[in-house]
Amino acid sequence: MKIAVMPGDGVGQEVVPAALAVLKQVGTRFSFSYSIDQYPFGGEHYLRTGQTLPDSALRELAEHDAILFGAVGVDPRGSAKIPQGILETEILLKMRFELDQYINLRPTRLLPGVPTPLKNAGPDDINMIIVRENTEGLYSGNGGFLYKDTPHEVANQIEVTTRRGVERCIRYAFDYAKTSGRRKVTLVAKTNVLRFAHNLWLRAFEQVKADYPDIQTDYHHVDACTMYMVTKPKIYDVIVTTNMFGDIITDLGAAIQGGMGMAGSANLNPTRQAASMFEPVHGSAPDIAGKNLANPIATFLSVAMMLDFLNQRKAAAAINDACREVVADPKNHTRDLGGTATTSQATEAVMAQIERL
Ligand code: NAD
Ligand code: IPM
Ligand code: MN
Repeated sequence: MKIAVMPGDGVGQEVVPAALAVLKQVGTRFSFSYSIDQYPFGGEHYLRTGQTLPDSALRELAEHDAILFGAVGVDPRGSAKIPQGILETEILLKMRFELDQYINLRPTRLLPGVPTPLKNAGPDDINMIIVRENTEGLYSGNGGFLYKDTPHEVANQIEVTTRRGVERCIRYAFDYAKTSGRRKVTLVAKTNVLRFAHNLWLRAFEQVKADYPDIQTDYHHVDACTMYMVTKPKIYDVIVTTNMFGDIITDLGAAIQGGMGMAGSANLNPTRQAASMFEPVHGSAPDIAGKNLANPIATFLSVAMMLDFLNQRKAAAAINDACREVVADPKNHTRDLGGTATTSQATEAVMAQIERL
């Protein structure tokens, strides 16, 4: 297996090395071998070279079996030297789009022992899989300015919605539900206002669901969905949604599963014609970077998703089981979970648990 590794910025530089240690351990334990190619792209590389992600590197990345990614980006309040969003769009979104990683799979699960801000919810209530469309919508970068910097400036940002793009995403969500024994797929959109783009989503959903008679279906407007995710998260099993809404509701999902440090994700090209990418949902967390404070569990769970995708099921299960055991004990909790463990201590705890399995 050829694995490309791109730690990126901020806490990416801490959680990715931790994840590589865990990967190495399960590789030995479950006897699989792999090669690692490190890629330096991110804020520092940009400042040094003016490069974000060159096309030659993109072509190399495509040839890998998987990419393990940390995060890119600077402080959300801005940086004088790095234009807003350039790293996110020219590195991360470029990989998602150009490698046709059209599914962003984001499990939202509360593990036992992890504190949730929801007063009346436990692990049985918070267990959903969010399937986010990952190559079009408002993220397509289609749009522009007219009369820029004048009083009649016009800015358009187009929600590109194609029948093919929507249908393959919805079909993936139903197939996922079927093969993982889940019972219901809920479409989350905003058909009452976005009467073109989201009407297409609804019609595609209605048509695809007919092929899956055993799966229940539901539809929620995204505004109501954010409310239900807080008031009755148990109603969600598999959610399928647009790129923009998926981005927003998966941060909410992360919050109810214990925070950004607990949310892993996969950017999948299910055709396997180019590499898929695995990354925590969180960003570079500049507020805590470089202090050994970041929670590495989200990245470990992403590595487990990577190994599942690469058919190393036992190794994936070992990481998932170890994370579950470790977070059940508050002494292993990093600061975001209310504990005092460092990134290194949480990593050591997971590795010790894998050793015991
Ligand atoms: P963020 O996810 O980096 O941080 C939000 C909050 O969560 C912060 O308080 C942070 O300390 C906390 N947090 C995040 N990861 C954590 C972890 N592993 N352990 C403990 N706490 C954690 O979001 P932001 O502050 O809005 O963005 C910072 C930068 O990251 C921006 O430039 C943004 O564009 C970028 N970003 C990148 C990605 C990515 O590369 N996948 C994702 C989101 C944001
Ligand atoms: C995420 C991030 C990215 C997104 C940004 C950094 C482009 O927030 O992975 O959720 O919006 O998809
Ligand atoms: Mn996001």
